[in-house]
This record gives sequence, C-alpha cells and structure tokens, in this order.
Amino acid sequence: MIIARTLAELAAARATLGATGFAPTMGALHEGHIALIGAAKAAGLAPVASIFVNPTQFGPNEDFARYPRDEAGDLAKLKEAGCALVWLPSVESMYPADAATSIQVAGPSRLWEGAERPGHFNGVATVVAKLFGQMQPEAAFFGEKDWQQVQVVRRMVEDLCLPVRIVPVPTVREADGLAKSSRNRYLSTLERATAPQLYAVMRDAARRIEAGDGVETTLAAARETLTGHGMVPDYLALVQAESLEPITALQSPARLIAAARLGPVRLLDNLPVG
Ligand code: PAJ
Repeated sequence: MIIARTLAELAAARATLGATGFAPTMGALHEGHIALIGAAKAAGLAPVASIFVNPTQFGPNEDFARYPRDEAGDLAKLKEAGCALVWLPSVESMYPADAATSIQVAGPSRLWEGAERPGHFNGVATVVAKLFGQMQPEAAFFGEKDWQQVQVVRRMVEDLCLPVRIVPVPTVREADGLAKSSRNRYLSTLERATAPQLYAVMRDAARRIEAGDGVETTLAAARETLTGHGMVPDYLALVQAESLEPITALQSPARLIAAARLGPVRLLDNLPVG
C-alpha cells in the first residue's frame, strides 16, 4: 500500500495504478469505511482512500479539535482491506493562505444537515471537489449512512461536469441496528444501549407509512417515541430521496431521514420507504 503525503507523491503513485475507486474519509475508520474499499474492489477498480479531517466542514462549536484521530490504526485497516494507495494531505496544502474558491451546492443541501450545520456542505463539497481533482478517480464511493451528503456530491458532480461516477454504498450497522459511526465511541454504556432505538423507531415508522398510515401523524408519534427514549430529535422527515424536499404523501423514491441527539452524540440515520 502506497502512502502519499505530498501532491508529488500522490501523482507518482497514481501513475502506477490505472483506474481507481476512491473512498474519501476523515479517518477513525470502522467497517462502514472499509465497505467502501470493498465496493471499489468489487467494481474492478484499484481501491484508493484519503484521510483528511476537513476543518471547513466543522462549525465553530463542533468537534474538529477532538475529532478522533488514529493514523497508524487507520493505515493498518486500509492495508488489511487491500487498499492500494492512501492520500494524507496536510491542512496547509489543502487550504493555502491565498485560496479563494469554495463550492456552494444549493438544492439538496438546503434543509436538514444543511440547516442544522450552516456551511457544513460548502466545506464538504469544496474538499470533495479538491480531492477528486487530486486523485482523479474513475469512481468515488460514499456511504448511504450520510444520505444527504451523497445527494449533495451527486448534484455537484453533475452540475460541474466532473468526470467521476458516484457510487452509494449501503449503511453498515452494528448487530443491534445502530449505524456504525466514528462518534459512537462517545456514547456512555447506557446511551449505547438506547442508541439502536433510532433505527428501530424509524423502521417502524417506515412500515406504518408503507401500510398507508398518515405521514404527519406517524412522524409526530415517532418523534415522541424518540423523546421518550431520552433522545432529542433535530429532525425526522419523509423526503424525496434526491432533492431532500419534504413530502407529505408517499411517492417514489422516498427516504426517511433523521438526526437525534443522545448525550454528546448526534445520531444520523436514514432508510428507503416504499
Ligand atoms: P467520514 O465521516 O469519515 O465518512 C467517510 C465515508 O464513509 C462517507 O462516505 C460516509 O458516508 C461513509 N460511512 C461512514 N459510516 C458508514 C457506515 N456505517 N456505513 C457505510 N458507510 C459509512 O463523510 C465524511 O467522512 C466527509 O464528509 C468526507 C466525505 C470525507 C469529506 O470530508
């Protein structure tokens, strides 16, 4: 596995690889990230990854400084997974002092995470565009865990005519249904026991809506159930799957999306409906 820390090292490594399948990450890797490498391999591409905790996608009161970092552990996991190349840019090389360009995707980034975390998707879109320019992959693999992020990246790639295929990869879960996330480690034992309720409540709401129950009343009841479990739902919504616009009656394709705070962690999840 080649480790590139400068653009010159990255260019030299890329020249040896042919068509690549790229998994951009912020590190603290778990099976969800590794599934992206597996999907790149399965697509017949040389699997490549980046690890970069991107400062511009964190808000001023968010956890950039204490975001989990474990470079040695991450590199061991990527090597074990058969990753061919890892790109580890520095903050200074990614954001030189004279940088003057950022990317703003409207549409799918307007609501939900975009509303809760102003500037977040600008940071994501900008760094992903830069990473695509640096890595020049054939395809890039993104987890459905961050459904809205997938839609924002897809929109950007289409709008900017970027020559990369975006491939969504299904959410990897713990045995009890909790979506794997680097931040789950901050849950207390009690919170960890409660956390799977988010997905359980969402699945139940999805089934009810599929069975014809009213969308508004079903979602209101589900929010109350989450609150009863000690969670603080930021949103729980039925949306058109690509535009992320809320819908009040089932149409295809639809997605149930949610963010709920539990102790120090914001849990995110989503699933298809219908
Ligand atoms: P990060 O949170 O490290 O996630 C990197 C990729 O792994 C994303 O595509 C994310 O959706 C995927 N992923 C995380 N948990 C997953 C799970 N349980 N199942 C499947 N996929 C999962 O998302 C980011 O980093 C950043 O915003 C990034 C795209 C790297 C830009 O900075």
